[in-house]
Amino acid sequence: MPRYERTYTTQANFILHGGDYNPDQWLDRPDILQADLELMKLSHINTLTVGVFAWSALEPEEGVYRFEWLDKVFDDIYSIGGRVILATPSGARPAWLSKKYPEVLRVNAERVRQLHGGRHNHCFTSSVYREKTQHINRLLAERYGDHPALLMWHVSNEYGGECHCNLCQEAFREWLKKKYNHDLDALNAAWWTSFWSHTYTDWAQIESPSPIGEHTIHGLNLDWKRFVTDQTISFFENEIVPLRELTPHIPITTNFMADTHDLIPFQGLDYSKFAKHLDVISWDAYPAWHNDWESTADLAMKVGFINDLYRSLKQQPFLLMECTPSLVNWHKVNKAKRPGMHFLSSMQMIAHGSDSILYFQWRKSRGSFEKFHGAVVDHDNRTDNRVFQEVTKVGKMLKKMSGIVGTSRPAEVAILYDWENNWALNDVQGFAAETKRYPQTLVQHYRAFWEHDIPVDVITKEHDFSRYRLLIAPMLYLVSEELIARLKEFVANGGTLVMTYISGIVDEHDLAYLTGWHQDLREMFGMEPIETDTLYPNDRNSVHYRGRSYELKDYATVIKVQTATIEGVYEEDFYANTPAVTSNQYGKGQAYYIGGRLEDQFHRDFYQVLMEKLNLRPILFVKHGKGVSVQARQAPECDYVFIMNFTEEKQTVVLEEKVKNLFTDKEIGGEIILDKYEVLVVEKKREIHSNNKSIK
Ligand code: GLA
Repeated sequence: MPRYERTYTTQANFILHGGDYNPDQWLDRPDILQADLELMKLSHINTLTVGVFAWSALEPEEGVYRFEWLDKVFDDIYSIGGRVILATPSGARPAWLSKKYPEVLRVNAERVRQLHGGRHNHCFTSSVYREKTQHINRLLAERYGDHPALLMWHVSNEYGGECHCNLCQEAFREWLKKKYNHDLDALNAAWWTSFWSHTYTDWAQIESPSPIGEHTIHGLNLDWKRFVTDQTISFFENEIVPLRELTPHIPITTNFMADTHDLIPFQGLDYSKFAKHLDVISWDAYPAWHNDWESTADLAMKVGFINDLYRSLKQQPFLLMECTPSLVNWHKVNKAKRPGMHFLSSMQMIAHGSDSILYFQWRKSRGSFEKFHGAVVDHDNRTDNRVFQEVTKVGKMLKKMSGIVGTSRPAEVAILYDWENNWALNDVQGFAAETKRYPQTLVQHYRAFWEHDIPVDVITKEHDFSRYRLLIAPMLYLVSEELIARLKEFVANGGTLVMTYISGIVDEHDLAYLTGWHQDLREMFGMEPIETDTLYPNDRNSVHYRGRSYELKDYATVIKVQTATIEGVYEEDFYANTPAVTSNQYGKGQAYYIGGRLEDQFHRDFYQVLMEKLNLRPILFVKHGKGVSVQARQAPECDYVFIMNFTEEKQTVVLEEKVKNLFTDKEIGGEIILDKYEVLVVEKKREIHSNNKSIK
């Protein structure tokens, strides 16, 4: 049910605008550092993330510290009214550290120890690295903890990857002993190691998965990934001990990532676990705008989905920690954001729950790997170029939007995303190697709501389902008995649940359920999946649903109905005319099963029926064509609605109510023409009942 409270992610009552600032690359150029301050003021920058990779500048030799430059940076930023997000430097270490303590270097899955270089490549178990990072973090907290400019801690940078060194192997075995209560038989049973004679008779025989060794035990692979998440969190927890102790008032974040091509959630770590250890979620968004494989609107929809996931992790506003004001240097083709796109994409982030627009990076590096990565300030230091001007425009507008800070996005629809399920599905030998596409499938279901401007939370399994009216859990292959019971309770109490093909097949150990479909699922859905047919990429089938035929590809589940109503049937193959889509009344709720992977139009039509049935509505009704997205944030007293044109053409939109244009302060309504990439942000006052408390 709608909640309108504000939840502040920082103490700031303004939208953060700024980004990664690396003055440590310019310490011999005081003129440039001085120019930075002037340019920051000009472009309405109020927050700088400092020190992300500054360890060598802070501790050039072991035990020799240089903080003076950072003292000045703090004071300078504060002098222009700015705030600092201070990073801990563990994302990249000085060469002296790797040389003296080689155990900090990562060992890859082939068991080869890496040389010093790059970044993001330390062992998470090494006690030396843990000690060193904690020590320098303590010095930072002691020195800057009370500085009035300090806003937030940015711990390390984009944690990810794994280490297979002996220390990690030992830690993994200890983790397993704890998980399986020191019972090796229990581990063997959970991993089904009797298969291919893989039974372990001693804990010491267990090794992390490797392409040159064991990689065929699904339970091992899954537990290893769980361990990698836990070990990364344990490293993080070790980093923040002095921060919590000395600066309990300063919130802590670390920047999450996305896997780029399809902009799906980062696969390497289970962020639903990590989120519990953070005060604020932040993430780095680098969508490939204007690419040659999808429309701008399709990409915008994916951006919407991932934002809705990262926001839902803590059910509070998040921070956009990095984005480029122009282009990156690591896409296959590094295309510049077209005029207007930076403003539009920034507004989209705010619309989905971000309380910041922060860039990588403030000033372009002069040399090395990132010298051509987009930045607010280019090598020529000029302010009259397109990028600087667009950033300035964003900064100016954000100032008018401070009322949005801390506001929420209540949703009545949730889509369930599960990292463990994704790992297990990707690992499974079966179905088809290339077409599992679990996160992409969720986006397919998200589309219908995005197109109708209906807010969606993308939640993970530990969330409370009862606040939603509609819960969509596609391809939930791995599902524990406990989760099945919670889904059942959700439906029994009146919720509407949608599940699909390849769901409810294995338990949390990736062991198949033995009794066919789980009894609770059978009762809830009033049917049972009998077999799953996997199609070749060029194979097609179709489903007849409510008078129309919809194309099916990749997967089709043969269904045996008990109490369910048949809503759609297959049209071809040996299962022609058998049930493909079913619904079942269970308790006070309804459970739908979609047996095959169907085209987008099916989802539009299928969910349209549910939207009507459940009376799901947008926050502000705006009539518009394809490629326009309307998203909202809700404050206790008003709604902030973003009307965004993600197409290359002008679009006519019709607002049925009078609202205030936040940029011009003018009242608008009726028919409005949006230019290519144009965005309107409007304020819609909410009716407040006479007692001034109950909010409609
Ligand atoms: C990541 C890193 C940054 C920078 C950018 C470039 O997000 O965190 O340090 O390298 O990529 O896009």
